[in-house]
Amino acid sequence: MPDPTLLTGRVLRTLADPFSTAPESALRIETDWGLVLEGGQIADIGPADTLRRDWPRVTEIAYGRDLICPGFVDAHAHFPQTAIIASWGKRLIDWLNSYTFPEETRFADPAYAAEIASRYLDLTAANGTTTVCSFCTIHPASVDALMEEARQRGQRIVAGRTCMDRNAPDGLRDTAQTAYDESKALLEAWHGVDRLSYAITPRFSPTSSPEQLAAMGALWAEHPDCLMQTHLSEQTDEIAWVKSLYPEARDYLDTYEAHGLLGPNGLYGHAIHLEDREKDRLKEVGAALVHCPTSNTFIGSGLFDMAGLKAAGQRVGLATDTGGGSSFSMLRTMAAAYEVGQLRGTPLHAAQLIWLATAGSAEALRMGDRIGTLAKGAEADLAILDLSSTPAIAQRADRAEDAWEELFATIMMGDDRAVRATWIGGRAV
Ligand code: GUN
Ligand code: ZN
Repeated sequence: MPDPTLLTGRVLRTLADPFSTAPESALRIETDWGLVLEGGQIADIGPADTLRRDWPRVTEIAYGRDLICPGFVDAHAHFPQTAIIASWGKRLIDWLNSYTFPEETRFADPAYAAEIASRYLDLTAANGTTTVCSFCTIHPASVDALMEEARQRGQRIVAGRTCMDRNAPDGLRDTAQTAYDESKALLEAWHGVDRLSYAITPRFSPTSSPEQLAAMGALWAEHPDCLMQTHLSEQTDEIAWVKSLYPEARDYLDTYEAHGLLGPNGLYGHAIHLEDREKDRLKEVGAALVHCPTSNTFIGSGLFDMAGLKAAGQRVGLATDTGGGSSFSMLRTMAAAYEVGQLRGTPLHAAQLIWLATAGSAEALRMGDRIGTLAKGAEADLAILDLSSTPAIAQRADRAEDAWEELFATIMMGDDRAVRATWIGGRAV
């Protein structure tokens, strides 16, 4: 085994949930601290001098004033939408039909799927993202492509075959049975291999028949340790459509609940226009909601109630929702979460924003014990941030009175230029 590596700089420590404790005591920015990496894990964390004394044989990489953070965790993305990000002028259903479905049809070609998987993981790594939870397309080759590429990179990933048996074009529809069979085969092939996990992935109620939702529910019941990811209450027109497709359902969530698709390992993307019963049930079962702020403004969906949902004790992660979302950057995504908070009269603290992008999303994925926090024994996935990456940010950072104010300037104005380095599984990539 190579000598352990010592990274020194400023270090972000996560001690508690900053929505339930004062943000500045829940997370701390420590100066002249460090991490020792060994065997792909964090072997030690503490003041740099202590680590130099306790680990005399380490190779040191000094990041100075840079901030060593947990790698960003993007809890909801569609890697197949990489090339159609920023497509103009449509709301959800028209956007899916005009841009998304035609692009997803191309993933029948395994070579195209492999090309986009590699491009996507390059772009996310350049933005400091070390784990994504992604939808694929209906084609098993799209899952194989992303899993294979992530495996070669030693990267933790969650992904699943997107299932749809109605209201989608030719070439993008399966049946309840083929969705079950192909999902099961992919799950068996990839779940638990290296750092890969399979997520059961019905796209959303409008594109699944009740029979297909039931088949997905049956598969989840056989593999309850898997995550299940889908979309919930994103746009008002979509909700009205769901109610017409499922006239017996009490609400949108009930279309999932009635088919075995509500559970503690469920991830519900968007969750903007929730009814009281839906909130109560999500809270009761401990499901996770995923906030996708650049998507919710870009597609015109609405304003997620972060403050209210967190105060009520919901589990919430943060995500780009590439390519309904308009950025691959979790920094830009944090900025959009701040802006949405402002539009609701509830500004989020920098510590809350960075927590959402790291520990919050990791906990949403039920991986908070492995990623999202810099702690002894955690996996060595890191984003190293330069807090003066452009002249505009540097001059604002100069005026900052403390490290949180400095970090906030990078959250609001930063992009991939702020990411000095990304470490995945103990290796700089
Ligand atoms: N709802 C169903 N599919 C999608 C998708 O691909 N993107 C978004 N934003 N919402 C969806
Ligand atoms: Zn989505």
